[in-house]
Amino acid sequence: MRPGELAARHAAVMPGWMQLYYEEPMELVRGEGFKVWDSEGNEYLDFFGGIVTTISGHAIPEISEAVKYQADSLLHSSTLYLIENQVRLAERLAELAPISGDKKVFFVGSGSEANEAALLFATAYRGSGEVIALRNSYHGRSFATMGITGQSTWRPTSRSALDVSYAVNPYRLRCPFCKEKPECTLACAEDVRQVVETTTTGHVAAFIAEPIQGVGGFVEAPPGYFERVKEILDETGILFISDEVQTAFGRTGSHFWGIEAFDAEPDLVTMAKGLGNGLSIGAVMGRAEVVDSIAGKLSLSTFGGNHVSTAGALANLEYILDNDLQGNAREVGGYLKERLGELATRHPAVGEVRGRGLMLGLEMVGSGGEPDAALAARFMEACRSRGVLVGKGGLKGNVIRIAPPLIVTREAAREAADVFEAALAEAGARTGVR
Ligand SMILES: Cc1ncc(COP(=O)(O)O)c(C=O)c1O
Repeated sequence: MRPGELAARHAAVMPGWMQLYYEEPMELVRGEGFKVWDSEGNEYLDFFGGIVTTISGHAIPEISEAVKYQADSLLHSSTLYLIENQVRLAERLAELAPISGDKKVFFVGSGSEANEAALLFATAYRGSGEVIALRNSYHGRSFATMGITGQSTWRPTSRSALDVSYAVNPYRLRCPFCKEKPECTLACAEDVRQVVETTTTGHVAAFIAEPIQGVGGFVEAPPGYFERVKEILDETGILFISDEVQTAFGRTGSHFWGIEAFDAEPDLVTMAKGLGNGLSIGAVMGRAEVVDSIAGKLSLSTFGGNHVSTAGALANLEYILDNDLQGNAREVGGYLKERLGELATRHPAVGEVRGRGLMLGLEMVGSGGEPDAALAARFMEACRSRGVLVGKGGLKGNVIRIAPPLIVTREAAREAADVFEAALAEAGARTGVR
């Protein structure tokens, strides 16, 4: 079916608030490694991986075989019965955890549900419904997770199941405290103390943050941020939830979990996207006593950690580890970031190049440094027409997000960087030496 016709049918029956990329939306019908093909036979380098999800790559035989084998054996039994793959996956995650001591893992179907579960455990354990989140954050589309999301675009309701306070997010380029100063002062971390002291009862359940804000435009916290915040949290026993839905499993290159770039141990971590390489699975892992704090009540997730998704997730996790995809993210991501940095010196419209590993952002700005969403949109179209798919993010939609599967090669990264250069010129980005 022609994409134009499908888009018209989509508009007729799907909600109007579901975003479709590009002036002429496309349907992807096939993938292989870090490449995808649309329904018209066009080939692309997939540098967004289905929103930072296809971590190992498309159609990876080891993963597909595990899924096929399981699908042919048993699709569903429910968690009322033992599921070996679920237990094995939980054991494997516990071995790899950025949390010390005894851990428990609970599987769900998505990132939103993982955060919902983390909030449930944290609020039950602490006997408090107060939560601190960061501005510019994104934690999901379910009711409670919208309530801890700090981006108005993604908050169609202001109602919340929780008492939420927002701290300033660490965002050097747009920091209200020290963007004009030569060094970051970590005033943003101190803001968490202010928030606790001024906007809460003092008995807060949890602080939740993404180690690198994903939807917010790959915004990286400065060195020392989470360490300082953790000290503040520890003063009153506030739990720390690291939302690793985008950062988990080596994507940042330097570490397996995003939060490991900081010396700040979380009490709970949530994950999804890269866990299943596209399969519907999410999980929350936390200190055993916190996860078990709802004991005495029951809870379940009918589809969470089902046979097929856990079989695929196990194969995916082993694939990431066996092939050192984290190392590749570091190597290829390092090269790509260098190329993007060079490009930024020639195009002042690139206000900042940031990110780690294969989670890289280009913030597009106007001549006064203001967000330039129109340029970002034109850039995306220009990349598409040259065979590269990227994503966008940021409160104003002006940040290009680059997050290919971690098996991407340096050669493909070089090709993509050349396309980015040409796309900037075509999109009309300001050029010149800064
Ligand atoms: C950091 C983060 N947390 C949670 C979510 C929600 O995950 P899902 O869309 O699987 O519900 C997302 C989705 O983009 C995310 O980026």
